[in-house]
Amino acid sequence: MRGRFSDAARRAVYEAIFRRRDIREGYTGEPIDHRTLARLLNAAHHAASVGFMQPWNFVLIRDAGLREDLWRAVDKERRSAAVIFEGEQAKRFPALKVEAIREASVVICVTVDPSRRGPHVLGRSADEDTDLYSTACAIQNLWLAARAEGFGMGWVSFYRKADLRRILDLPPHINPIGLICLGPVAAFPEAPVLEQVGWGSRIPLEDLVYYERWGRKEPAPDGPWEGFGEAARAAGFTSEGEP
Ligand SMILES: Cc1cc2nc3c(=O)[nH]c(=O)nc-3n(C[C@H](O)[C@H](O)[C@H](O)COP(=O)(O)O)c2cc1C
Repeated sequence: MRGRFSDAARRAVYEAIFRRRDIREGYTGEPIDHRTLARLLNAAHHAASVGFMQPWNFVLIRDAGLREDLWRAVDKERRSAAVIFEGEQAKRFPALKVEAIREASVVICVTVDPSRRGPHVLGRSADEDTDLYSTACAIQNLWLAARAEGFGMGWVSFYRKADLRRILDLPPHINPIGLICLGPVAAFPEAPVLEQVGWGSRIPLEDLVYYERWGRKEPAPDGPWEGFGEAARAAGFTSEGEP
């Protein structure tokens, strides 16, 4: 097919997707060389964005004092979040590591600037959150590129935005949507950590796909989706999951 990548390149794309993990443990702290970090940020910057808005900024943080302040803000939020869980989760939560702010080679605060490109951004009039979606696309690009380079990455969202604004001098209209921990790590787990510790499991994709109308889980036998169920099972839509 025209435009299709080579077999090896296609395999590499899927490999980055399936072997990407959120990493909070095992950071070695070795620095990332500037060229590689610049390449990763450039991959993030080539994400899709509503109306080509590019609403993101990346605050690169290595300073130990700043990290300590960020870690305190994160840990405060982690401790106050602990009260919302019940039963088994309440027991498990205290042992969960949810950040690597102090150990990662670099921490990146990724922000959204809702005012970028002025008040009328193509495609954003009906849904202002499209600036957030765009920036999440940039973070996913960063995540996949980091995995391909062999770097661990963790997205930390345990913080009060006011704390980040204070610590990092963010202007009031700037919305910090993630603290990203990045760097060489000892290992990449095969499965999500939350799955390994019994917190949650991957939902079978077949439960999430509907045909033509909300809630229709089976394709009509003689319609355009005939046979798709088999293809879906072959592609790993069932609970066995990972291709
Ligand atoms: C928006 C977002 C916020 C997240 N925040 C945290 C966080 O604060 N701490 C944490 O340990 N993991 C966080 N994660 C990682 C998820 O827990 C992780 O992606 C999920 O368990 C699946 O694991 P995997 O990424 O290894 O596939 C976040 C992920 C996303 C997309």
